[in-house]
Amino acid sequence: MAKFEKANSVEEWLDQRLAIRKVKKVMAYEYWIPKDINFLWAMGMVLAATFGLLLVSGIFLLMYYKPDTKLAFDSVNYTIMTEVHFGWLWRHIHAVAASFVFVIIYIHMFTGIYYGSYKKGREMIWITGMLPFVTFSAEAFSGYLLPWGQMSYWAGMVITNLFNLGGLETDWLVTWIRGDFSPNDAMLTRFFMLHVVLLPLVIIVLIGLHFAALRIPHVNNQEGEEFDFEEEAEKYKAGKKKESKVIPFQPVFISKDVFVLGIYLTIFFYLVFYHYGFALDPVNLDPADPLKTPKHIYPEWYFLWSYEILRPFSVNIGLIAFGFAQVIFFFLPFLDRSPNAKPVHKRGLAFKLWFWILLIDMIVLTVLGKLPPEGIFTQIGLVGAILFIVLFLILPVITKKEKRV
Ligand code: HEM
Repeated sequence: MAKFEKANSVEEWLDQRLAIRKVKKVMAYEYWIPKDINFLWAMGMVLAATFGLLLVSGIFLLMYYKPDTKLAFDSVNYTIMTEVHFGWLWRHIHAVAASFVFVIIYIHMFTGIYYGSYKKGREMIWITGMLPFVTFSAEAFSGYLLPWGQMSYWAGMVITNLFNLGGLETDWLVTWIRGDFSPNDAMLTRFFMLHVVLLPLVIIVLIGLHFAALRIPHVNNQEGEEFDFEEEAEKYKAGKKKESKVIPFQPVFISKDVFVLGIYLTIFFYLVFYHYGFALDPVNLDPADPLKTPKHIYPEWYFLWSYEILRPFSVNIGLIAFGFAQVIFFFLPFLDRSPNAKPVHKRGLAFKLWFWILLIDMIVLTVLGKLPPEGIFTQIGLVGAILFIVLFLILPVITKKEKRV
């Protein structure tokens, strides 16, 4: 056994056994971040914090929730909301965080696209970011079923029906996913398991992978400038802090993160207390009724753009378009063939247009997804859906021609 000196502090005692000083150095005090970044680079931490809020509030809700089709609705809408002390608060935090996690994911993703943070050695950061995004979508869908209200039931019906795969008529797959012919107890309990155990565990592992993927290529900067991090870090350590292009994560960069996080949490809790309504669908305040189809079935706002890509087409084409929309963002680092890892405003006109048209198109699709598929809405939806697909198909062509800047 190794020989241990007498420790003079708890830190030293732990350091002798767990090398915590070295861990702190590698993970924080000598983890270098570029100086030239703005508040948008705090979104990763904001995301991690929102995920933390979801976990904590979820644990409290889990103490009273009943995963049974006969009890679920009342356990949420009556027991948690009215009987349990501060049950309403945990539910509001959970609902607002579930919506906000997607707001921040979309901001974080589009920041990545704007600054070209998926290019040149950063491909794995992008891919390991997309993985929790997809898992979050499954997590949100499974959570939506749990109160077993009208929208839980009917959204569950519509989404599981997609696995009928149009012309392939794979009814057996739908039944297998539901564990029954229609959404019922078996479906509720398995989605409950996915929501509270399996998917959160997968998300934690995937976020860990995402963080690990940041280590070697390092975080990008506003100008897309490439430099030697080791060299810049040496300058910083030698006291040339102004000259150096990097700052240590702890204590310098984290203070920026904490500042942005403070503003975010102020807005977040303002909504939790005063305007939580946007995160709770009123249709879901009616208990699930298999005999009463709601007039208009729609998913939560963060799925609307991809739902609108499915809707305007015939079943088979719609499913292919929907599948395309689900996976295409994974391939972005390989579809963008430009030699420039620069922000949009420094890139060619074609890419500038591509970026802004994509963003506007996704917003328009999101708005349309909530509207009933009637008249002019259907036509605009069709144009928006085709445009989305075309944008990704032409991306390699327009970016290959881009001149090096
Ligand atoms: C869902 C949980 C996620 C968490 C907790 C998370 C966290 C983080 C953190 C802490 C950073 C470093 C600082 C920053 O740039 O904000 C980061 C960077 C990054 N993330 Fe995420 N992220 C998540 C999802 C995603 C998604 C969905 C994408 C896009 C597909 C993505 C793409 C990126 C990229 C490209 C970077 C590098 C930014 C740069 O180098 O400038 N992340 N992420």
